[in-house]
Amino acid sequence: MSIVEPTARSIAEAARRLQQGELVAFPTETVYGLGGDATNERAVAAIFEAKGRPQFNPLISHVLDAEEARRFVRWSDVADKLALRFWPGPLTLVLPRATESPIALLTTAGLDTVAIRAPSHPVAQALIRAAGLPLAGPSANRSGAVSPTRAEHVANSLGERISLILDGGPCLVGVESTVLDLSSRTPTLLRPGGATREAIETVIGPIAMSDAIPAGDSARKSPGQLHSHYAPTRPVRLGATSAVAGEGLLAFGPDVPKGAVLTLNLSAASDLGEAASNLFAMLRTLDRPGIDRIAVMPIPETGLGLAINDRLRRAAADDATA
Ligand code: TXA
Ligand code: MG
Repeated sequence: MSIVEPTARSIAEAARRLQQGELVAFPTETVYGLGGDATNERAVAAIFEAKGRPQFNPLISHVLDAEEARRFVRWSDVADKLALRFWPGPLTLVLPRATESPIALLTTAGLDTVAIRAPSHPVAQALIRAAGLPLAGPSANRSGAVSPTRAEHVANSLGERISLILDGGPCLVGVESTVLDLSSRTPTLLRPGGATREAIETVIGPIAMSDAIPAGDSARKSPGQLHSHYAPTRPVRLGATSAVAGEGLLAFGPDVPKGAVLTLNLSAASDLGEAASNLFAMLRTLDRPGIDRIAVMPIPETGLGLAINDRLRRAAADDATA
């Protein structure tokens, strides 16, 4: 792992790595991000792997500006007002995925919404511009650890797992961006952060707080759990070692039982990174007429397998709203 000063040359090198699906830690005005190509399922799987996340939380896609954002989300007038006032800066907007949006399903944890923001840090901007890609970027720390606001923090937390850290000095804001959901009727604050509620309300009027959402929709209580993560409409059977009539099979590994209506293999090579990158797309494909139930073969409970199994358990839960 190397910590490098951001120069035209090192940024070009970082951009090249991102285009090849590698990960690069980069400074933003809020905290350091662990960047990867947001349109590349494998790169995003590598982010979750590096963070050691036991779940697939949806990630923020970082872009240059509102014009670029329109390629990835269904933009709105409210988004426009907010972007005019706060972008580039520490405000993340959650908007419906655009039709044909190239953002990877793993980036949004299978959701039909995309969290997007334009960071104001010049190094982040230069990197996004050089890569020509939206960058998925969670905070660059191991899961459960504090967010890094200096390059050394990233090195201490993730050093062995990433090849390059762009050192942009200490982060000026130091707390993560505010996450505001604009995908439902009332704009709702999902995570307080660098842009204050008061400042947002000055621009668009009163907003709701995610805690204030009526009971009965418990999935909404914690940010990231908001709006049920994608769950198939068909029942899901876990730990399947055989397939029965009417089932679609989500397989894993080289030995796949016969008998399913349709079989899709998360990874014939038993590679958990490959499995993670295929998970949401394959679940969606199996959730279709002609299939009564989705059977899923056992996935090892190690590494990314924790996140995959967490997601599958939610998909299989009776009240599959979480
Ligand atoms: O300041 C920041 O936001 C930093 C820098 C690197 O940009 N990034 C960051 O990312 O804090 P992360 O992954 O640690 O937090 C992303 C937050 C989580 O609370 C996640 O649940 C929420 O954004 N989020 C992402 N996509 C969402 C979506 N489609 N719907 C609802 N919440 C979403
Ligand atoms: Mg974080």
